[in-house]
Amino acid sequence: MTVDLVIVGCGGHGREIAELVRAANRVTDATPWRLLGFVDDAPSEVNRKRVQALGMSWLGPLGTLGELPRATHVVLGIGDPRARRVVAFRADTADLPYATLVHPDATVGGDLVSAEGLVVFAGARITTNVVVGRHVHVNQNATLAHDCVADDFVSLHPMATVSGDCRLGRAALVGAGAVVLPGRRIGAEATVGAGACVTRDVPAGTAVKGVPAR
Ligand SMILES: CC(C)(COP(=O)(O)OP(=O)(O)OC[C@H]1O[C@@H](n2cnc3c(N)ncnc32)[C@H](O)[C@@H]1OP(=O)(O)O)[C@@H](O)C(=O)NCCC(=O)NCCS
Repeated sequence: MTVDLVIVGCGGHGREIAELVRAANRVTDATPWRLLGFVDDAPSEVNRKRVQALGMSWLGPLGTLGELPRATHVVLGIGDPRARRVVAFRADTADLPYATLVHPDATVGGDLVSAEGLVVFAGARITTNVVVGRHVHVNQNATLAHDCVADDFVSLHPMATVSGDCRLGRAALVGAGAVVLPGRRIGAEATVGAGACVTRDVPAGTAVKGVPAR
């Protein structure tokens, strides 16, 4: 018995999710995923070849989701939070269930309250009493610590560290290797630059960078 799964997006993020799925299938005692392939409106030639090189297929544009059996699960393989939100809006019309995917080398603590579409990559840590919205992605070796709340479409890029009791607004992005100090608030659609250290709250829709982040 397997569960069918389709990834939206042939880009690097989507293909990294395919690797996550393969890893999960190798060790899990849960029902394995059967990865049917990727949907993407306009995959570049090079990305189509990369998908093929993984032994997988591009199934067609996003509309293909509407032709799949009702039990087929979907995961959004779009790295940028704002782009992911736009794609989710379209994918929702297919009314297929979204998968939650946790790499076997990631850890997730107790009392995680999670909406659909959470993806937790290798080495990532979600500690304890965390709440996440829809389609939150925690990339390789990133940490979302105790008592944090991450709204829909939040992304933590690789090695980002969000300390305890932070609040991340809808579609906020914490860049690679950035640190958010305890209790800080990152507004909706704000971007924390790679390597930044956030010492003050970040207003919605703004971008900050550097140490301390400005
Ligand atoms: C901060 C950020 C949002 C700025 O994006 P941008 O506005 O397109 O910035 P630009 O590339 O035009 O650079 C503008 C200036 O900021 C500097 N800069 C860019 N990113 C920076 C960062 N993370 N820290 C410090 N300075 C940075 C550039 O050197 C440039 O400086 P200059 O004007 O003196 O030459 C972006 O660079 C970033 O860090 N995004 C996070 C993405 C990430 O983590 N990706 C990893 C994916 S795995």
